[in-house]
Amino acid sequence: MTMGTTTTQAYGEPWYWDNRYANESGPFDWYQKYQSLAPLINLYVPRHSNQHHRILVVGCGNSAFSEGMADDGYDDVVSIDISSVVIQAMQDKYSDRPHLKYLQMDVRDMSAFQTDSFDAVVDKGTLDSLLCGSNSRQNAAEMLDEVWRVLKDKGVYILITYGAPLYRLHLLRESCSWTIKLHVIEKLACEDKSEPPIWELTNPVPLNDDGSSAEELLGNNPDVHYIYVCAKDNSLKPGLKRETSVD
Ligand SMILES: C[S@@+](CC[C@H](N)C(=O)[O-])C[C@H]1O[C@@H](n2cnc3c(N)ncnc32)[C@H](O)[C@@H]1O
Repeated sequence: MTMGTTTTQAYGEPWYWDNRYANESGPFDWYQKYQSLAPLINLYVPRHSNQHHRILVVGCGNSAFSEGMADDGYDDVVSIDISSVVIQAMQDKYSDRPHLKYLQMDVRDMSAFQTDSFDAVVDKGTLDSLLCGSNSRQNAAEMLDEVWRVLKDKGVYILITYGAPLYRLHLLRESCSWTIKLHVIEKLACEDKSEPPIWELTNPVPLNDDGSSAEELLGNNPDVHYIYVCAKDNSLKPGLKRETSVD
């Protein structure tokens, strides 16, 4: 299933997802499964036995990603989605796994979470969905602002998307002063294990200001998903005052 190639305006509308999840039990993972991305997640959110990590998965849908993280040793994974239908289904499915928490919430308003409270936010296809709907720029800006707010200083926003740097870098940069690294992974459909990957997953792709360096290295329209690892650094936003919300 792809985004960005067909008329996908409805992906930005909550009613679309409720209807869809009412008719599809899943599990279904957009773009990539946890197991393919695990080396990268482990790199940026290292699992040390003495360190507790609080992870937020935004727009989780009925994907098995959060379950994959929990199975991999992350013991505090909170997942949210705007669709009450899918959240109810996931709460029922994981009622015997208290480490996996599912909450109905709009990523543009996560005021139920305290400021600086997560070590990592994982987004696979959710910013992409918001960018499909009406008011897309406003929605994306609200979302990114909230993601920044709930992340701890030095926490990471891991954005997995079909969007090339030309279409995502400016959005990320105009929202907050992230320190951004870019990674790529072959799309599942064209994954051929006998071929070496177009680029090693855990090796960042050199990124210049406008992102054209990625295209120069990987070619035009490579069959990859892009992973932007955006680190929050409070010192890069001097003078910014964000209110602490009520938990
Ligand atoms: C393309 S799907 C990705 C689902 C899942 N992350 C995956 O990788 O399979 C986008 C998800 O974002 C959710 N979503 C859309 N708008 C949202 C919003 N404003 N707040 C929270 N979730 C939202 C949808 O309900 C849907 O589950």
